[in-house]
Amino acid sequence: MALGWLGQAGFVLKSPQGCCLALDPYLSNSCEAVGKAAGLNLRRMLPTALRPQELVGFDGILFTHSHQDHVDPETVVPYLRAGGAGALVAPHEAAARLVNLGADAGRITLMWPNRAHRIGDFTLRATFAIPFGGDDLTHIGYLVEVRGGPRIYFTGDTDYNEILSLSVAPFQPDVMVSVINPAFRNLSPREAARLAKAIGPRWVVPCHHDLFPDNSLPDRLFRTNLVLEGIADMFCPVEYGKMRLFRKDPRRRTRLQPLMPETVSEKPKR
Ligand SMILES: [Fe+2]
Repeated sequence: MALGWLGQAGFVLKSPQGCCLALDPYLSNSCEAVGKAAGLNLRRMLPTALRPQELVGFDGILFTHSHQDHVDPETVVPYLRAGGAGALVAPHEAAARLVNLGADAGRITLMWPNRAHRIGDFTLRATFAIPFGGDDLTHIGYLVEVRGGPRIYFTGDTDYNEILSLSVAPFQPDVMVSVINPAFRNLSPREAARLAKAIGPRWVVPCHHDLFPDNSLPDRLFRTNLVLEGIADMFCPVEYGKMRLFRKDPRRRTRLQPLMPETVSEKPKR
C-alpha cells in the first residue's frame, strides 16, 4: 500500500488495485483565520501538496472528526463543486459538517468505533479516539488494510488512554500513523512512543506536528522517546508530499483478528 503525507493529519493511500483514498485532507490555509481569532498562529508553513480538485477521481475521503484542519471547507467545497463523487466516510459530527458544506447526506457512510466498511480493495475499521474538547465528541481513528498488504492504524486526533492500545493491539497493525502534538491535547511524543510500544507495529509514522507555527515540534523528539522505549527501529517518518510504499511486516503473526466481521454463510442445503 502506498502512503503519501499531505501535512498535518492528511494522507493519501493507494491500494495494489489502484483504489485511492484520502484521509483528513487539509489543502488550504483556512486555519490561519480561525487561529487569528483565537490568538494563535496557524498559518500554513508549507505549500499544499495537492489542489482540492485533484481529489476528484479518488474512490473515497475519510474523516476522523469535524475540526477545520480535518474537515476543511476550502478543501471540501471546491472538491464537491469540481464534481468529486467519491465515498465520504465520517463519524457523526464530521458528517454533519460535511452536509452543512453541501455534501448529500445519502452518500456519507457513518462510522463509529468498531464499525467496518469496504471501499474497493480497502477494508476500514473505525477505532476509538479521545476528543480535544466538548465541541466535537465523536473523534475516531482508522485501521486500514488491503488483502495481502499491510494493516495501518491511524490514531486520529486523540489524547492518551490505555483503551487505545487495549482496543487496537489485537489487530496487530504493521504501521501506526500517530499524532505527536501535545499543544492541542493530542498524544505527546512520549505518549505516542508509549502507545507504539504497547501496540507493537513494525513502523511508526509521526504526523500533525509540522504545519502551523503554534502547533509544531521536531519529529526528532518522537524518535528520542522511541529510543528511550527501546524501539527506535520503528521510527519511519514519511516525507511531506512524497509517496512511500509499505508492505506487510514479514515477521507478522499468521492469525489476525479480521477488520471486517465475517459474514455468516448460509448452511448448505441437504
Ligand atoms: Fe487536528
